[in-house]
Amino acid sequence: MEDQQKKYLWWQEGVVYQIYPRSYQDSNGDGIGDLPGILQRLDYLQWLGVTAVWLSPIYPSPMADFGYDISDYQGIHPLFGNLDDFDALLREIHNRGMKLILDLVPNHTSDQHPWFLESRSSRDNSKRHWYLWHDAGPDGGPPNNWLSVFGGSGWEWDETTGQYYYHAFLKEQPDLNWRNPEVQKAMLDVMRFWLDKGVDGFRVDVMWHMIKDDGLRDNPPNPDYLPHMSTYEQLLPVYSTDQPEVHDLILKMREVLDSYPERMMIGEIYLPIRQLMTYYGVDGRGAHLPFNFQLLQLPWEAPRIAASVDQYEGLLPDHGWPNWVLGNHDQPRITSRVGCEQARVAALLLLTLRGTPTVYYGDEIGMRDVPIPFAEVQDPQGLNMPDKNLSRDPARTPMQWDAGPNAGFTTGKPWLRLGAGFARENVKAQTDDPYSMLTLYRRLITLRQQEPALMTGAYAPVYSDQQVMAYLRGSEGQQRFLIVLNLSHRPAYFNLKDPDMQGTVELATAPEREGMTVGGAVSLAGDEAIIVRLN
Ligand code: GLC
Repeated sequence: MEDQQKKYLWWQEGVVYQIYPRSYQDSNGDGIGDLPGILQRLDYLQWLGVTAVWLSPIYPSPMADFGYDISDYQGIHPLFGNLDDFDALLREIHNRGMKLILDLVPNHTSDQHPWFLESRSSRDNSKRHWYLWHDAGPDGGPPNNWLSVFGGSGWEWDETTGQYYYHAFLKEQPDLNWRNPEVQKAMLDVMRFWLDKGVDGFRVDVMWHMIKDDGLRDNPPNPDYLPHMSTYEQLLPVYSTDQPEVHDLILKMREVLDSYPERMMIGEIYLPIRQLMTYYGVDGRGAHLPFNFQLLQLPWEAPRIAASVDQYEGLLPDHGWPNWVLGNHDQPRITSRVGCEQARVAALLLLTLRGTPTVYYGDEIGMRDVPIPFAEVQDPQGLNMPDKNLSRDPARTPMQWDAGPNAGFTTGKPWLRLGAGFARENVKAQTDDPYSMLTLYRRLITLRQQEPALMTGAYAPVYSDQQVMAYLRGSEGQQRFLIVLNLSHRPAYFNLKDPDMQGTVELATAPEREGMTVGGAVSLAGDEAIIVRLN
């Protein structure tokens, strides 16, 4: 039984909203979003009801990977503004009672970072061992078979010093050597720099990559590899990722966070559930929220989703707080994956499961992946593996604010083209429309934040079959809710086993349903989901 008096922290009670700063709001007409632009949109975020904002990287960067290649961890890229703009944004976010989470990219720097420039300058430079330098293998080729996530070998030859360096991503993103205490200290100091400014937490980029096998053992082949997959997936990265020592590093980061009040860290981790759970750390002293990407990865089928929600709930350690993600800047958008109708069902799922939800900007207005002609592709993942359809640009297009020029995003030429549907799919058009996606999101967030049962109450599965999943939310002594979702396009019904389970529809994907009573046999139209306030 959960303790009614238990105090929950802001990151347990809240709703996280991810902003991709290049694409949110441009304030100076250069076609790229910036911090003053985000500042202009804080009223919108407050109206929407989200409580924490996570910004993808805003630091100085050559932009080989759009900011995930950082050349200065303690500055702001001039495209986005300056430190004064940052301070103003943080202040205004806090004035609104919201929190700010920054992206922290500790696994790799830019090849233009002064640390790497020094490191590659000579073999005896004091920063040589800040990165992963190795001699060529016996055949003169790379030291082992590790691959880059973005295609090709993970090793790049450096002519000047006659060694290879490792890069899990682009060759412009050399991996740091986290076994080196100097590297650890430098990155923990970066955390302190932002925490001292008042930043509330970090989303830690590719946390499971941070340390690699010291013996550089070859990765084994992936027996399930299929030709359409990314070339990286040809091998199982068992020696280049998810090493046991990573948890010591996470603990060190956690200790820094714990020396400030109520700061938190999200870990970006793409691993199967059991391995993911280890990132909560021994005695809960790991990541506060190891990102749970199941809703991004599983086929959109009721039995699969229901089973994995239950598995995730069942495997959570006692101290572990759940979380759910429906979209991010690396994955196709939910509306494009499952269609407009099911995207509404997905919104209801995301915002009624137990645990902190993360909403990706634009999903709240049903933005779709925008087709980007090949000549306009910017994402290195798309450019490096052109035949695999892996560009992430389609999910990174400018936020659609209104039906005016460039959807109100910029007065200049947007860095990525806008979705053709922005005349309808925009914030302004959807604000007062009771049937819009935006209205659905706002009402779901409001209800979740008003009802302790939905915000932090217990979860219990009730029913699932080929089409439907149903669960209860609420702990002893709380108003309880029954959530029923039809993940198919066809009508569905089932019988509630408990005859006392009766109530009234509080919120539904089809607002006409609201106010109707539910009990005994529950029937749903295709693509329908309901939240029932139980008697
Ligand atoms: C993470 C980021 C992704 C980036 C990669 C390398 O997966 O989310 O956008 O390309 O790390 O930093």
